[in-house]
Amino acid sequence: MSDLSKVLGVHFSPKRQGSSWVLLEEFGQGVREAGADFEIVSVIDAKNLQGCQECGSCNADGQCAIDDDMNIFYRAFEGVKRLVVSTPIFFYDVPSQGKAVIDRSQAYWARRYVLGRNREGLEGAQGFLLGVGATRGKDLFMPVTLSIKYFFDALAFPKIFDTLFFRKIETPAALTQEQRFAARSAGLAFAKA
Ligand SMILES: Cc1cc2nc3c(=O)[nH]c(=O)nc-3n(C[C@H](O)[C@H](O)[C@H](O)COP(=O)(O)O)c2cc1C
Repeated sequence: MSDLSKVLGVHFSPKRQGSSWVLLEEFGQGVREAGADFEIVSVIDAKNLQGCQECGSCNADGQCAIDDDMNIFYRAFEGVKRLVVSTPIFFYDVPSQGKAVIDRSQAYWARRYVLGRNREGLEGAQGFLLGVGATRGKDLFMPVTLSIKYFFDALAFPKIFDTLFFRKIETPAALTQEQRFAARSAGLAFAKA
């Protein structure tokens, strides 16, 4: 991926066909309606995914020393300029699988902030956050918004991004047509922006 006409969906739930997956698919449908390409990379396909070991190796060369399924994400992030993260809320934040992806992005952080190597060609880059949780608290999406803000920053994406949140959704069956449409419309607008 290397241009604005492609959107990468990053799926953080371990559940196949769950709420965050369905919402991401709807978003992707909107992206395709706008004439852009859409593909998803999911933690479901990264069964062998370790957390950051804090070995410090990326501070020296900007590369992660662990050779595992994080490579799926490192490859997917190459050249990507439009990124939508879709995540359920697990204990007020992203699921541990998604947190592993974020923490392993320390390699990008080290390139930027330790080695002074900024990622090239990200003019016009944009991120988006889709969040879904079963409860309805006012602050339900506060921690995840912060986590994704600094994840995007590590990737050299803007720290300001649009969000779309769904409360009181335990399973996809609870999603209304209006909510699905809202996700699709957000994808359309995102791809057209
Ligand atoms: C381990 C776990 C923790 C959860 N923690 C929260 C929570 O803190 N707040 C909330 O509103 N929902 C919580 N939920 C519910 C999920 O966010 C909700 O069911 C969501 O629709 C699941 O999306 P998914 O099917 O894409 O995984 C939790 C679910 C699990 C399995």
